[in-house]
Amino acid sequence: MGADDPIRLHAAGRVSAEVALARLILNGHDPETLAAHILSAGNAALARIAGARGDGLRRLKALLDGSGLHHGVADADPAAAIAAVRTAFDRAVAASPEASVAAYSLGDGDLLRQATGEIVCWLDGLGVLRPDTDMLDFGCGIGRIAAAVAPHVRSVLGLDLSPAMIGTARRRAALPNLRFATTAGADLADQPDARFALILAVDSFPYLFGAGRDCAQRHMADFARIVRPGGAITILNLSYRGPAEDLADARAWAAAHRLTLAVAGATPFALWDGRAFLWRKPDPRDGG
Ligand SMILES: C[S@@+](CC[C@H](N)C(=O)[O-])C[C@H]1O[C@@H](n2cnc3c(N)ncnc32)[C@H](O)[C@@H]1O
Repeated sequence: MGADDPIRLHAAGRVSAEVALARLILNGHDPETLAAHILSAGNAALARIAGARGDGLRRLKALLDGSGLHHGVADADPAAAIAAVRTAFDRAVAASPEASVAAYSLGDGDLLRQATGEIVCWLDGLGVLRPDTDMLDFGCGIGRIAAAVAPHVRSVLGLDLSPAMIGTARRRAALPNLRFATTAGADLADQPDARFALILAVDSFPYLFGAGRDCAQRHMADFARIVRPGGAITILNLSYRGPAEDLADARAWAAAHRLTLAVAGATPFALWDGRAFLWRKPDPRDGG
């Protein structure tokens, strides 16, 4: 059992039970024997949760088997990698909308709402949700974040690579200040300068890295261009590499685009172990 074994990470208080269980399934464990495996590793409490969450574990396994979706869908050819991610998410959302955007929800709507609430509360605490905020939800999936922030902001544009995700978002999050559209996946060249006060990307950037670091860098350059002076860019999970590589990129991007790195890899959530980065774009009118 290595140091990054999910059972060990959970026992050390570093990931929630749900994240540990989802990771064990992502690592290829069989839902039918998972509780026994965890028990044999000496964690009776987690084994009990695995037993109680049997349906969710089977749902996640079926989603992964049916979609081909796993951490790091990658291809040497960026266009082929983007196409593979599109197909994988189109299939995943058909299998389980909730698990397709957050494996640790195990397809449970209540768990997903709880996780979403933590993210919205964190954003609110940073003062980035305001009645005059126009926001971009990049890689918006089924629109769960857009729907949850809708009462707090002026507008949200949700963009996603997957047409099935966008179709689901339009059905599930049909609110007057939300709009959803597909994006081609290579960059955001079609978005006008200084359009958004807040750009949020929740667990979508790792898939850009799957299409090559250039794809991630191009999106970040576009984020820096389309965010307003005085605005903020938040990426939750930059990649599935490691904290040191993510921090190095976050600092390099701040320097390259004249942004201030205000949150540098924190893990502020109880349910999800997403790693948070936030850059602010100085406003020259404030002397920034
Ligand atoms: C794990 S899901 C997260 C969805 C949503 N942000 C949430 O947290 O509920 C990742 C999403 O990123 C989208 N995605 C992946 N690559 C993308 C790209 N190149 N451009 C736009 N969206 C992308 C996927 O289609 C998927 O909906």
